[in-house]
Amino acid sequence: VDLARAKGVRAALTDALREGVRTGRLAPGTRLPPSRSFAADLGVARNTVAEAYGELVAEGWLTARQGSGTRVAPGAPGAPGTVTRTPRPASAVGSAPGPAAGETPHHRMTGAPDVSGFPRAAWLSAARRALAAAPNEAFGYGDPRGRPELRTALAGYLARARGVRADPERIVVCAGFVQGLMLLARALAADGATAMAVESYGLRPHRELITGAGLRTVPLPVDEHGARTGDLDGLGGVGAVLLTPAHQFPTGVPLHPDRRAAAVAWASGMGGLVLEDDYDGEFRYDRQPVGALQGLDPDRVVHLGTASKSLAPALRLGWMVLPEHLVERVVRVRGVAERQSGALDQLTLAEFIAAGSYDRHVRGMRMRYRRRRDQLVTALAEQAPRARVTGIAAGLHAVLRFPPGAGAAVLRRAERWERGMAVEGLDAYRYADPSDEDRDALVVGYGGPPEHAFAGALEALCATVREALAEIP
Ligand SMILES: Cc1ncc(COP(=O)(O)O)c(C=O)c1O
Repeated sequence: VDLARAKGVRAALTDALREGVRTGRLAPGTRLPPSRSFAADLGVARNTVAEAYGELVAEGWLTARQGSGTRVAPGAPGAPGTVTRTPRPASAVGSAPGPAAGETPHHRMTGAPDVSGFPRAAWLSAARRALAAAPNEAFGYGDPRGRPELRTALAGYLARARGVRADPERIVVCAGFVQGLMLLARALAADGATAMAVESYGLRPHRELITGAGLRTVPLPVDEHGARTGDLDGLGGVGAVLLTPAHQFPTGVPLHPDRRAAAVAWASGMGGLVLEDDYDGEFRYDRQPVGALQGLDPDRVVHLGTASKSLAPALRLGWMVLPEHLVERVVRVRGVAERQSGALDQLTLAEFIAAGSYDRHVRGMRMRYRRRRDQLVTALAEQAPRARVTGIAAGLHAVLRFPPGAGAAVLRRAERWERGMAVEGLDAYRYADPSDEDRDALVVGYGGPPEHAFAGALEALCATVREALAEIP
């Protein structure tokens, strides 16, 4: 109960501070009181204040420097000061068909969730309630943005769980992240944009969607602090950037607060757009969740979320929280062929969220994945100390780094697995020119196996790694 209370107090405090910065009441550079005295003033535990500060530093609202205390970040969006680009009328709606999606063999789907954990009973009961309560008009053609019940439920959830500045009017429900990405790329192309920056590690099908919509992709280097968003200024002709700020896919690093600030500063300086792919933002294990980048500048950042990791890819339900000026344009490029997502699943998800089942399910799955992550790290440390495990603070996958030659040897053997964990070379995600280091790094998806099969899958992975390492001097 104390823990729950502390969490509530922390959330209220972070909300109030974000609001203070956003409205300009707390100007950039303002020094905040030391956590000890602030906590005493508020009558709460010092840790609660320290954690709230820590969360806001991670999100880029505040900075904490030795000797100068905690201050409002220089680039924090107090003054709106955003440059708006005059939208061109969308004369040519992007009509290029996307390339056929390449088939990915199951053992290479490193981002797969454990679909055996799908909450069938709770979903069914939410579906019953939703169906019983649905007005007749819900069965007709509806608002292309999606059902209002779901947009309202999502606005509340995203604000609470991810720090998103969400308004149901600016949410568009779509068929997973990929449809959102495609619609945005088409809307940008129709508006005259020619290129989108993408992280130098990522999913090729996503890059292909962007080029299919008529935009060039330009790689943005990724290092141990995430994408080098400071380099955006030097990229000519780029009007948008696609990022995975909470947990870079697939290297696993969170975007550094300075880099978050740089992304938003670039976007507001040149009228660009940041696409925030928050695919697994709910699954963070070691620290408090890193809030959404969108909260820093809702006019310049599109927040994209999906039910694919948290519930199941088969639902094909995702959502975009858009700047106001983009809503109409996105709806227009969506056109009649892709008019809207299925209303009945939307109503069910709305009810599932409103009843608290979504929170409960995510909490349970987070514990499951965290346990797997811990077991993976422990087993490899014991059995294969020469393998280094990185990118493990969040998500459903880790990156294993091996001595030269061993990565390929593991991959060759894993090709023979009929089931088990998903394994893929890091070089497969590289935009261009993989380094030698990439060739000896593997992305391991531990989310996919059903719970009863996980121990066996882990054993198989460890045995394979041991054998491969034994081949290497
Ligand atoms: C980096 C990343 N983004 C987004 C997604 C979700 O895509 P969708 O919502 O279309 O299933 C995935 C799923 O694998 C992913 O790995």
